[in-house]
Amino acid sequence: MLYSEKVMEHFTNPRNVGEMPDANGVGEVGNAKCGDIMRMYLKIEDGIIKDVSFKTFGCGAAIATSSMATELIKGKSIEDALKLTNSAVVEALEGLPPVKIHCSVLAEQAVKAALSDYYTRLGIDPVPIVGVISDCEDCH
Ligand code: FES
Repeated sequence: MLYSEKVMEHFTNPRNVGEMPDANGVGEVGNAKCGDIMRMYLKIEDGIIKDVSFKTFGCGAAIATSSMATELIKGKSIEDALKLTNSAVVEALEGLPPVKIHCSVLAEQAVKAALSDYYTRLGIDPVPIVGVISDCEDCH
């Protein structure tokens, strides 16, 4: 099978879906080539990701990686969330086909964009992040 059982499970039953009206960090990233968009909402209290949710307009792998990314950072410190890599998301999903690895990059960047927004709201210069993946040739 092309996708692992874990990917299929997170695609059909994604965790933490939806908008979060009282989020204090929101990040949106998009893949310019495939047009997929991922928005991540964070509620941070005392340096801890108390709650996280997402909305993704995208392929199945984008939905599965968003879902897994929320699970990996929920309850973690900002420092730990900043260390989340796309490879950690792929590993937790028991792999992705090579042409779908870029979808996991979107998940990593959405988390970082939301953390960046959190710092901006506090008036702190955020760590610069790349918001758009523009060199993806293999979408769809
Ligand atoms: Fe565009 Fe997956 S994020 S194909």
